[in-house]
Amino acid sequence: IPTNIYADSEEASKAVAREIANLIRQKAKDGKQAILGLATGSSPKKVYAELIRMHREEGLSFKNVVSFNLDEYYPMEADAVQSYIRFMREQLFDHVDIPAGNFHLPDGTVPIEKLAEFCRDYEQRIENYGGLDFQLLGIGRNGHIGFNEPGSLVNSRTRLMTLDLTTRIDATGDFGGLSKVPKKAVTLGIGKIMEAKRIVLLAWGEHKAENVARAVEGSVTSDVPASYLQLHPNASFIIDVAAAAQLI
Ligand code: F6R
Repeated sequence: IPTNIYADSEEASKAVAREIANLIRQKAKDGKQAILGLATGSSPKKVYAELIRMHREEGLSFKNVVSFNLDEYYPMEADAVQSYIRFMREQLFDHVDIPAGNFHLPDGTVPIEKLAEFCRDYEQRIENYGGLDFQLLGIGRNGHIGFNEPGSLVNSRTRLMTLDLTTRIDATGDFGGLSKVPKKAVTLGIGKIMEAKRIVLLAWGEHKAENVARAVEGSVTSDVPASYLQLHPNASFIIDVAAAAQLI
């Protein structure tokens, strides 16, 4: 996997935001929509901040952007502080001119008996737009992408996933105690992620170094879902020096 190492996450995030902005502008020029797959968590925050800056200072418009987020906790109310829809509004959507109705996230309020249908429909909605032009990813400390935890298959579909203990421990701060962290989440499947035309995975910090190395240099294995990106023709890792520490 092509891996670009930057001195810090600030510079790296600016480069990623530039790539996304170029895609949005190119699509607009061609009279088309840019179909973006977006992530939450700490890793993409500076990318979103830079996109907001470009919207304010450089006239970057999101009118032709359609987005699909990777995941949402389940169950999760939309207005809860920890919900990913709220995160996306606060970090990006409320600050740019993306039309309401153009952004999509898995819905943490769908009744359990309707969830399988919701997941099929979520993938179909992506298909109806012709698939994802660009997928932004983070990587979990356990090597997950989206909430596809270790053990997930390369062709896994969008589904309800039981979260690993490491994933729940890493979310403890957001929820004020491990027992309050949801045990499940709805995640875009690896099959759909792999169909994106371009994939960029972000990783900052020493705590990501081990699984970045396993994903980039190890064998392709369900133990490290990010290692599946070795099979993608146009995926890159954009990482900082600390996250590169265990690359050989
Ligand atoms: C978030 C997501 C997760 C995170 C990963 C890293 O939508 O799908 O896979 O990208 O857990 O989280 P951070 O960026 O908080 O280290």
